[in-house]
Amino acid sequence: EQSLRGLAQRHGLQIGTAVDMAALADTADPQYRATVASQFSTVTAENVMKWEVLEPTRGTYNWAPADELIAFAQRNRQSVRGHVLVWHNQLPGWLTAGVADGSISDTELRVILRDHITAVVKHFKGKIWQWDVVNEAVSDPWDSPPAIHYKGFWAQHLGDGYIADAFRWARAADAKALLFYNDYNIEVFGSGNAADDKTQFVYEMVKRLRETGVPIDGVGSQGHLGTQYGNYDTFQVSDALRRFTDLGLATAFTEVDVRSQMTAGVQAGDSNEINPRLQASAGNFGILLQACLSNRHCLSFTVWGFTDRHSWVPTWFTNPPEGLATLYDEAYQPKRALGIVKAELAFS
Ligand code: G3I
Repeated sequence: EQSLRGLAQRHGLQIGTAVDMAALADTADPQYRATVASQFSTVTAENVMKWEVLEPTRGTYNWAPADELIAFAQRNRQSVRGHVLVWHNQLPGWLTAGVADGSISDTELRVILRDHITAVVKHFKGKIWQWDVVNEAVSDPWDSPPAIHYKGFWAQHLGDGYIADAFRWARAADAKALLFYNDYNIEVFGSGNAADDKTQFVYEMVKRLRETGVPIDGVGSQGHLGTQYGNYDTFQVSDALRRFTDLGLATAFTEVDVRSQMTAGVQAGDSNEINPRLQASAGNFGILLQACLSNRHCLSFTVWGFTDRHSWVPTWFTNPPEGLATLYDEAYQPKRALGIVKAELAFS
């Protein structure tokens, strides 16, 4: 039975997963480690390369968990996606508290950001294929004010100039790593007006960055989907990828999962055949993969966890409860989505 990485190799595509380091180390759960090693050719640290983990106290670094993932990847001939240099979530307490109580000025904050990016990129230099340099810097249409805008802690304190700075600092520390902007809900374009279309806003942002010589190499489309949103149209997704690659950028799907609302009538463990939500989930996985396979500059297709046993979804989506978001069920049995993904890779 061909592995996902074996099937993807025919297309020159890297297929990957986010890795939960606690699960990887859990000797009582050996199938987790075995599946990561055998099925995937690229890995992303789900949490251990985030600022709160890497620099828990100012200036002292906790490299061990991330170094462990790098060593695992090297042993299994896997490339590594670095996630994430700049994000407004999972920042260490000393940073957010220092800014909140005014002991860290915006001027000093910019130096702290530069030093963090420089230290992290230098530490992992030569071991990271793609860096998610900046993550989720752009608002959603339902945010207020409704006009799409730069959002979050970094833009509030440094203005949106931090984005170009982050890419320049990362490039100065590693001349080879591919530097990505990463975001969600940018799978397709909407109105084409940046005021109400997040994808258009991101498109114009990265176009401007490229045109002003900022060293950005790619755009990561996270691909967190829900079956209740119905199926995307493959052509709309392919068109979106092509508009980004026509800018000279690479693309990647970086965090794909397709969650289902666990409302009555659908239980975890239903067979792949009778469960309508597993059908819809499989459909959406196939649509994103088909679009990626249609564009040679779509470099990788990474799922955000591969088994329902270790998925962020049930913790984060509780009302109504959601789940069933990944390729394998809680017992590591293949789900319909895995079959669709393998079929896409084998026959397209
Ligand atoms: O490790 C600590 C543990 O020591 C502590 O006891 C426990 C209780 O607070 O928390 C643990 O940390 C949790 C961490 O996951 C590891 O399990 C954090 O609280 C929790 O917030 C964190 O959630 C992560 C989430 O990002 C936070 O925003 C998810 O695992 C992770 O899958 C999710 O990933 C994000 C991407 O980075 C960016 N794109 C969206 C995606 C989904 O939100």
